[in-house]
Amino acid sequence: MHQRIGFIVGAVTFSLSTLAGPVLATSPTLIPQGNEPAQARRSAFGSSDLPEQGRPLVAVSHRGAAGTAPENTLAAIDEGHRLGAESVEIDVRPTSDEELVLMHDATLERTTDVAEVFPDRAPYNVGDFTLEELGRLDAGSFFGPEFEGEPVPSLSEALDRLQEHDMNLLLEVKEPELYPGIERLIAAELKGRPHWMEPNAPDEPHRLLVQSFDWEYTERSKELLPSLPHGLLGLVPENEIDDYTWAQQINPAHTTIDADYVAAVQDAGLEIMPYTVNEADGMYRLLGMGVDGFITDFPGTGQRVIREFREGRARQVARESEGAQTDGCTGEGEETRVLTS
Ligand code: G3P
Ligand code: CA
Repeated sequence: MHQRIGFIVGAVTFSLSTLAGPVLATSPTLIPQGNEPAQARRSAFGSSDLPEQGRPLVAVSHRGAAGTAPENTLAAIDEGHRLGAESVEIDVRPTSDEELVLMHDATLERTTDVAEVFPDRAPYNVGDFTLEELGRLDAGSFFGPEFEGEPVPSLSEALDRLQEHDMNLLLEVKEPELYPGIERLIAAELKGRPHWMEPNAPDEPHRLLVQSFDWEYTERSKELLPSLPHGLLGLVPENEIDDYTWAQQINPAHTTIDADYVAAVQDAGLEIMPYTVNEADGMYRLLGMGVDGFITDFPGTGQRVIREFREGRARQVARESEGAQTDGCTGEGEETRVLTS
């Protein structure tokens, strides 16, 4: 909550607030009710209304913060927090003893020293190792020597760390077809944690959303965890979007969509947060399409682009409401685009 307030305060300078005052005063009537925040925000961006509608735009920190820390580790979650991310995305798979761990790949070789620690255990499937065995691996050195010894975390440890940081979570269930019954493990873990089952307010980012590329799995998960929002990863064909209105998000690759697709998703009452966009220009392009947020390895850049985008929108509103008088506003030249974190 405090981050959101800071975000809003930071987005509008004192002089701009003065100019936009008459519009701000009308904002309570613009806050959407029910499940239509995305539609309301999009229509607001297309008109002279304020851009702050419903849930805020969010730069979700991908795999913890994979641009500057070893993916899917507690160090990456800490890094996302340090960079100011409100929400984090992580990947989860089960171990052979039915524990849940953070791991993107189906095998352990790319991100750990499993081939050194267990030389006879190829092909190193995550699901062939117990939690205790995974605890002996180094999941940090592949990224950099300063992360040597960083362990493979359990989902439980990650949930604890995220809660400590007051961060939100996009939980991606990886290849559930490889792990029959994984939905039961995840549901049991989450249902035992009241904090994560409690939704945030409608004007804050989702506290926890479960998503997967496997849409049948996602629907089964929604049946087990009906109070939690769920997301479909990938590009749902436009003419099939209405079949998925039980979900709350459709999150395709950022290179596969245009403004018409964004509108189609939002017109069906869903949100859209494309993955994985790391360049500021790409983030601006998505925001211009009206997305509800995006997933990025560089949440620091993402937050700055969102702030600058909203400042630009607010300036536009102020100019429109003041008959194009911009005295006291910061100049267009300050809308510097950031290319790296
Ligand atoms: O959250 C979506 C994104 O993480 C999907 O791609 O391969 O990075 O898991 P991937
Ligand atoms: Ca992922």
